[in-house]
Amino acid sequence: MTSPVSGKRILLIIGGGIAAYKVLELIRRLRERGASVRAILTKAGAEFVTPLSVSSLTGDKVLTDLFSLTDEAEMGHIEMSRDADLLVVAPSTADLMAKMAGGLAGDLASTTLLATDKRVLVAPAMNVRMWEHPATKRNIRQLKDDGILFVGPTDGVMACGEFGPGRMAEPMEILAAIEDALRETVLLASPAGVGALAAPQPLAGRHVLVTSGPTHEPIDPVRYIANRASGKQGHAIAAAAAAAGARVTLVSGPVTIADPAGTTVVRVENARQMKAAVEAALPADIAIFAAAVADWRVANEGVEKLKKGKNGPPALALVENPDILATIAQRGEGRPPLVVGFAAETEKVIEHARAKLARKRCDLIVANDVSPANGVFGGDSNTVHLVGPDTLETWPKLPKDEVARRLVAALAARVRP
Ligand code: C5P
Repeated sequence: MTSPVSGKRILLIIGGGIAAYKVLELIRRLRERGASVRAILTKAGAEFVTPLSVSSLTGDKVLTDLFSLTDEAEMGHIEMSRDADLLVVAPSTADLMAKMAGGLAGDLASTTLLATDKRVLVAPAMNVRMWEHPATKRNIRQLKDDGILFVGPTDGVMACGEFGPGRMAEPMEILAAIEDALRETVLLASPAGVGALAAPQPLAGRHVLVTSGPTHEPIDPVRYIANRASGKQGHAIAAAAAAAGARVTLVSGPVTIADPAGTTVVRVENARQMKAAVEAALPADIAIFAAAVADWRVANEGVEKLKKGKNGPPALALVENPDILATIAQRGEGRPPLVVGFAAETEKVIEHARAKLARKRCDLIVANDVSPANGVFGGDSNTVHLVGPDTLETWPKLPKDEVARRLVAALAARVRP
């Protein structure tokens, strides 16, 4: 299969950081797949990799100096940033991101980033404390609002000996993000002029229904059975679908996180209410069942608060809840064309996901390993496998919003006429 990077022009901006060496591998992988790569090496980047090693791999001159007369005569920075199909900043330092967020243009890299009208993908790499600093977080929020795409960073041991988020994504992960970005990119001519970017809207005109969060199954008016789901992954999917232009209905169990912007949120407590809300929200083009619905509810729910008494603890008889995903996937009329389920497994993840796909008759299962060592429930990242009847994709460990963005891109590619 031809890679989406084939025939594309990538402008790669190499910042200063020990991870710069990984970019050499990225250039090789891009070129192998038929992309042409032009590189800008910042002054700090040149402390880690040499212009000669970069140019040997790109097969092109490396640009290093904003005011180099020959570079400007050959191709000015504005034309260069427009000539590319995608700009990739890797490694992207805290300094480079601060410059981008602030619109600074004091050197060739930042000037090019300010002058471009193309999408920009950033692969950050920095010390964990710098990554967690409020200033970096603020800059990242700003860059995301501006439509900048991110890949990584990931958790791990860093060159400085500390552990945590801040390691640059691996070359193959960056390559996957480049492929996603090129698949998605729809650059609309904007009346706002130079540098104005329109986020891609591959789900414009579609209705996406998402379930999220846990359910609370009442024991009596004050007690309930619950689980540890936070709703982070489902809410992130709803947000990503809205950002992709869809009309989104999010049916959410009780959660403590904020409603995603641009979605209609229907709040429910228990599985039966969730099923009713889902059915009321149909028809939908895509239905994604990310909620951790309780399998059982209490059969003999107390109308009044159960009292302690001399008869000892009450016996709680359980009955099975309706399976919302299976019900919707097996509907005749009004079945959404794309029905996606989740599988939280602690062992034999893919095998169990395949079985679930067949049993529930949905179109895709997003399977993740929730064994306690992985810390998925309530955490911010997720390692998932996308399992279809004839397909299997395994994604690296990614932040939940990145999983959401990729899932939405994968689904948009499937519903496109
Ligand atoms: O069978 P299991 O609970 O592992 O299936 C998980 C998938 O089924 C998830 O997509 C979940 O949202 C959905 N589900 C449901 N209704 C239930 C149980 C699970 O929609 N009662």
